[in-house]
Amino acid sequence: MKRYNVPEIADNVFWVGVKDWNRRMFDALIPLPQGTTYNAYLVVGKEKTALIDTVNPGFEQELAGKVDQVANLDDVDYLVMNHAEPDHASAIPFVLNVTEGAKLVTTKKGAKMAQVYSGVPEERIRIVADGDTIDLGGKTLKFIDAPWLHWPETMFTYLVESKVLFPCDFFGSHTAAGFYDDEVEELIPFAKRYYGEIMMPFNKMGKKALDKIAGLEIEIIAPSHGPIHRNPERILEAYGKWTAGETREKVILVYVTMWNSTEAMIKTMAETLLGEGIEVALYNLVNADLGDIAKDLVDSRAIVLGTPTVLGGMHPQAIYAAHLVKALRPPLKYGVVLSSYGWGGGALKQAGEILGPTKIEVVDALEVHGPPTADDEERIVEIGKQLASKIRQG
Ligand SMILES: Cc1cc2nc3c(=O)[nH]c(=O)nc-3n(C[C@H](O)[C@H](O)[C@H](O)COP(=O)(O)O)c2cc1C
Ligand SMILES: [Fe+2]
Ligand SMILES: [Fe+2]
Repeated sequence: MKRYNVPEIADNVFWVGVKDWNRRMFDALIPLPQGTTYNAYLVVGKEKTALIDTVNPGFEQELAGKVDQVANLDDVDYLVMNHAEPDHASAIPFVLNVTEGAKLVTTKKGAKMAQVYSGVPEERIRIVADGDTIDLGGKTLKFIDAPWLHWPETMFTYLVESKVLFPCDFFGSHTAAGFYDDEVEELIPFAKRYYGEIMMPFNKMGKKALDKIAGLEIEIIAPSHGPIHRNPERILEAYGKWTAGETREKVILVYVTMWNSTEAMIKTMAETLLGEGIEVALYNLVNADLGDIAKDLVDSRAIVLGTPTVLGGMHPQAIYAAHLVKALRPPLKYGVVLSSYGWGGGALKQAGEILGPTKIEVVDALEVHGPPTADDEERIVEIGKQLASKIRQG
């Protein structure tokens, strides 16, 4: 029989998740440079055993093998579903089939989702409300309603005696590297990337959840992706800033160019901002990693979007980026659009249509004919200085 690594993260609490080292894409959208993990946990009480979340499709046998190494999968009494997305919930039917008596524990909304996504019959579900507890014998699971992180049904589970919080996706990172937070050099960049991609549109709900758990004694945060935080202060502090939408004196420049005119404008803008002491993150959309852009959107105060005119509008790559920026709802305050056209223009108008409904204040927009002239360059420097001054004001 295959032997697995099943670390005990707290007294009789075992990690039975899996590492998906080679996965390179998530949600058909987000690149995963270091793969990811699907963390699941087995909590063994004196009388009852609970499995907290499951794993991505294709890893059912590995999950079972790990559980069987410290207990018996058939003995699981409760299968806690903090979130219904298939990367954590897809092995639920498998586990419920093996364990005839086990109940799926979830929120009211989770119950509906479990029926829809995993075909779980109603009689196998136990719905829990905020503050409800389940006693496993010397181990108490307490359920904390934490909706909309990032689906409507989400909740947290708290193991009272060991002070372990299982928040599912919240506080997660997509990386297969390391096991505990202090073993991962790039912990915060990876957590921030994940936050930008998944949680940022739900800033307000994240803030609510943080306020809710502020009174809890937490020794370990055990999320469903990436490292386990045995030093929870660090990630809690970062989440405090991110959920509050705290920004830095920082600009993210994203652009696309066909014949380098837009690129020349963007580079002048970046030089100007750097000269003004503003932090700069710059991405050419042709080869940028979307996760990096999401990461820098978390704390940038302004965005500069660069696009040539293509067929009377923005370049399709820029349309995609502008749409994403809008959907991710970053805490950006200011924006500038730079564009180059060949005969009629039209990119600026479309940029205005897409970004208009956002809260971003458009400081200026410039459309130049062909490559930027010396006069155009001067205009860009002026706009850059104006943007820097706005950014410094807060
Ligand atoms: C496929 C294609 C479609 C274009 N469509 C338009 C257009 O509809 N209107 C326009 O004014 N210019 C159009 N242009 C011209 C570009 O906007 C112009 O060359 C611009 O300076 C390119 O900027 P860049 O050097 O940053 O790529 C088009 C160019 C290409 C290659
Ligand atoms: Fe999720
Ligand atoms: Fe997830």
